Amino acid sequence: MAKSGRHFLQIPGPTNVPDRVLRALSRPTIDHRGPEFAVLAKEVLHGLKEIFLTSSPVIIYPGSGTGAWEASLVNTLSPGDKVLMFETGHFATLWKDVATKMGLQVDWVTSDWRHGADPAVVYAKLADDRHQAIKAVCVVHNETSTGVVSRIAEVRKQIDAARHPALLLVDTISSLGSIEYRHDAWGVDVTVGCSQKGLMLPPGISFNAVSEKALAASKSATLPRAYWDWEPMLRDNKAGFFPYTPSTNILYGLREALIMLREEGLENVFARHERFGRATRAAAKAWGLDIVAVNPAEYSGVLTAVMMPEGRDADAFRQLVLERFDMSLGTGLGRLKGKIFRIGHLGDFNDLMLAGTLGGIEMGLKLADVPHKAGGVLAALESLASESLQSVS
Ligand SMILES: Cc1ncc(COP(=O)(O)O)c(C=O)c1O
Repeated sequence: MAKSGRHFLQIPGPTNVPDRVLRALSRPTIDHRGPEFAVLAKEVLHGLKEIFLTSSPVIIYPGSGTGAWEASLVNTLSPGDKVLMFETGHFATLWKDVATKMGLQVDWVTSDWRHGADPAVVYAKLADDRHQAIKAVCVVHNETSTGVVSRIAEVRKQIDAARHPALLLVDTISSLGSIEYRHDAWGVDVTVGCSQKGLMLPPGISFNAVSEKALAASKSATLPRAYWDWEPMLRDNKAGFFPYTPSTNILYGLREALIMLREEGLENVFARHERFGRATRAAAKAWGLDIVAVNPAEYSGVLTAVMMPEGRDADAFRQLVLERFDMSLGTGLGRLKGKIFRIGHLGDFNDLMLAGTLGGIEMGLKLADVPHKAGGVLAALESLASESLQSVS
């Protein structure tokens, strides 16, 4: 069927790519070993530090987030090392699988997929680890499969309280450039990030922000590494180059996205996403539908995972919304398949896009005959209108 108007891409990443970024991406590809490229590379490598809130180097891989997960592990750890990981949801489980395949020994803290990593458990595990066998604590900041945020600053405090030397590795793939995150202030050793969510870029590049402590660990770590090796990257990046072919055009897009984030101001970006989260939760509450996150301190401003009433297939509902309103909502992943749908409200996104998104969902609930109460959109509009946009300049 021919469609008019724009598709609503309301999955929690990849997100809508702004026109400014699309135009930047369409520039002619240049010589990645020439002087023009070096200027571009230095600019984005430097600019990324503002997003991670770090003065440490940030590495850019031509690869998806899964590669940057692997990079964080193989550069810092050795075969058989013990790592502490938390089952916050589907993505934490996939990171654990990568660690296991790399030959690491994972202490896996299971959960109901409705809570973030528990800082008290971090303390208990590390305080108990008298021989300091645990070499790294790995946490997913925003668990994209559930819309639950782990409290990284508190995790850091508990590592310090236990006086334990473990590295802290954090996945910010769906929180970077959307949810408050501070690599330096929170003492994170490796932050794993990605292009296709808060940075408003297409998929294709991913990041490791690397602390001095992580860099020191990489000197003695012995897991095999080639493509993901930090050392040649950091060496060549100094002059604005890469040890292999970088994603030239995505770097044009990254330069533009960094300008956009700087224009808005990172603190304003964080506040904007929090507003979207509050308004979306107001809609879900008015519909009478539960969300996956249960602890208000762990609510996500990036996505809201909505539970379908018992016996209703969330994917059939998503299918109807796609066919009828040309809107993609996020599917349930892993054990939540068919049970939830996820509303992405991140990236290049504003109040009226959220109103349209929630309007499509409310009409879809009615058309699919899903038991719910009307008034979700109205509740969201009231939430948005009642909160003035306070801009920090
Ligand atoms: C939190 C999180 N971590 C890791 C990944 C994996 O990233 P990729 O699919 O780019 O490999 C995703 C993907 O959505 C994610 O949301």
